[in-house]
Amino acid sequence: MGEYRCRLGVHFLALAGWVVVGVLSVGRWLVLYGCKGGIVSKVFVNISLSLDGYLAPEGMTMENWDRPEYMDWGAKWGALMGWALNQAYLREKLGIGPGGETGPVNDLVRHTFQRTGAHIMGKRMFDGGERGWPEEAPFHTPVYVLTHQQREPWVRPGGTTFYFINEGPKRALELARQAASGRDIRISGGADVIQQYLNLGVVDELEIALVPVLFGGGRRLFEHLREPLARFRIDQVLGTPAATHLRYVRA
Ligand SMILES: NC(=O)c1ccc[n+]([C@@H]2O[C@H](COP(=O)([O-])OP(=O)(O)OC[C@H]3O[C@@H](n4cnc5c(N)ncnc54)[C@H](OP(=O)(O)O)[C@@H]3O)[C@@H](O)[C@H]2O)c1
Repeated sequence: MGEYRCRLGVHFLALAGWVVVGVLSVGRWLVLYGCKGGIVSKVFVNISLSLDGYLAPEGMTMENWDRPEYMDWGAKWGALMGWALNQAYLREKLGIGPGGETGPVNDLVRHTFQRTGAHIMGKRMFDGGERGWPEEAPFHTPVYVLTHQQREPWVRPGGTTFYFINEGPKRALELARQAASGRDIRISGGADVIQQYLNLGVVDELEIALVPVLFGGGRRLFEHLREPLARFRIDQVLGTPAATHLRYVRA
């Protein structure tokens, strides 16, 4: 009987030890990954891409902002973004007006906005947006703008504040992680900034709306990439006549 009790005690101690090790490992994991409330922020890209791989057409620069006919950039940009501007959720966010599709693509767009706790973008994307976004900018989170320009934060109605970051992409990501409180971080663009985060190896998901238009030139997404290249696998494909919605996750 004494021997039986002793064995039981040993088993109990082993089990207790195993539980303690487990709890410590989980705690260490939470601390390591900066997790709040048990959820780890994902870093994702969500963009529209021309069939020949451009994020923006040639000629779409601030100098030509008021001349959309220059190199036909306005029509090309419209063709790239047409599918998005036709979604009910985005129409409401951008104040375009009622109507629009309410199907599975609209659900994707809504999910993208709702999952995002912070945005990161480049100064050229910001410059265009500063001219084009409505007063209530369509982010509703902190937005970290990578730039060499020094500028005070720009607070917009509706919860969007733009912070201008001069300390590089790692620092912007650190600030975005703190601000996102476990929600996801969207690398909004443009190409220059997405390439920097791909090169840092921190992009968990790539969401691409591949639009059947050819630009022939412009801001190419996949260039200036360094070894070791990020590796992805296909997670989801949603085909529509206006765009193929591709979702890749880190392999
Ligand atoms: N198709 C889409 O879904 C999509 C999405 C987003 C954007 N876009 C388009 O993409 C175009 C812009 O892309 P882009 O590649 O030309 O430019 P970008 O990535 O938006 O911005 C690049 C600029 O950001 C600043 N910057 C970037 N990294 C920096 C760093 N580490 N430190 C300091 N400053 C840094 C620099 O500007 P300064 O030196 O002047 O500060 C740089 O010239 C726009 O036409 C935009 O509309 C398209």
